[in-house]
Amino acid sequence: MKALVLAGGSGTRLRPITHTSAKQLVPVANKPVLFYGLESIAAAGITEVGVIVGETSDEIRQAVGGGTRFGLKITYIRQDLPLGLAHAVLIAQDWLGDDDFVMYLGDNFIVGGITGLVETFRESRPDAQILLTRVRDPRAFGVAELDAGGRVIGLEEKPERPRSDHALVGVYLFTPAIHEAVRAVRPSRRGELEITHALQHLIDTGADVRSTVIGGYWKDTGNVGDMLEVNRTVLEGLERRVDGEIDAESEIIGRVVVEAGARVGRSRVVGPAVIGAGSEVLHSYIGPFTSVGEYCHILDSEVEFSIVLRNASIRGVGRVESSLIGRYAEVTPAPLVPNAHRLVLGDHRKVQIHP
Ligand code: TTP
Repeated sequence: MKALVLAGGSGTRLRPITHTSAKQLVPVANKPVLFYGLESIAAAGITEVGVIVGETSDEIRQAVGGGTRFGLKITYIRQDLPLGLAHAVLIAQDWLGDDDFVMYLGDNFIVGGITGLVETFRESRPDAQILLTRVRDPRAFGVAELDAGGRVIGLEEKPERPRSDHALVGVYLFTPAIHEAVRAVRPSRRGELEITHALQHLIDTGADVRSTVIGGYWKDTGNVGDMLEVNRTVLEGLERRVDGEIDAESEIIGRVVVEAGARVGRSRVVGPAVIGAGSEVLHSYIGPFTSVGEYCHILDSEVEFSIVLRNASIRGVGRVESSLIGRYAEVTPAPLVPNAHRLVLGDHRKVQIHP
């Protein structure tokens, strides 16, 4: 069995954190979301991985490399334009050959991995298997309609009047039956070859398409609240590891990771929290569910339930909570600003805040 990981698409979405880079590299607990996907593929016993890359190819290749550190053998497959998920399968067909494969969308995060799903698929081997999750408003998703036995009887892409609240999650298990289906579909109204249409084609031609409903799922939508929640979920599973330098006046409490080269002085860090390599935390408090990226400077401040991306600095501003601070952002004191701070700061932004 192989894996096809989709990390293409354009890198120009206008959102605060990822407008300058691939959305698959958005960090969750200081690790790109794509890495969790690759790790869960390796954990499921799959070693051959094709990674679809587009406009942000260089960034993805630089971050992922040849795959040895994940225990994977990675082949990059170039997709010049993001013409749809079914298009990605179409261009990967030669590489996929006659193998079954899992298709994994690189900006998706599946809590608990995919090992169980891959095992079930291997045992029962339907023509295709999809993952679903219940959502409050399915109109922004691919939506599946199921019969009483959980068999998929119909699929719709972003329906105005959804027939169920079962939204498609970004992991699909396919037999080579999908190849004929992706060749059969035509571009949708938005000009893409939709995987939902290919699946519908399978169903219409009598194929067995099954589904599994899962709970823990996240996709990068640029929503800050969602990012803080997924960061929290991952930090919940953290194991304590202190490789950095801690002075005698500091206290490190609970499940805290302090990476090598990080320095904590006259500070209190209460886990679960992670302090990235090369960062400096001085005369500060880092509270639970906080990820501080690499080469950050946190001085005379308190940061809790927040994500601070690499090279950001927070100095002398009192308490920062529920915030997402972009790369190279600077948060510093300024006079005559109210004392409660809740921030969404993009890369390279600078704000001044009263302490
Ligand atoms: P998205 O653009 O999120 O695909 P979607 O169809 O789910 O988008 P929307 O929210 O608009 O419905 O891309 C999902 C992942 O797949 C992401 O990592 C980018 C990648 N991708 C490709 O590699 N090639 C493609 O042609 C497309 C459409 C996506």
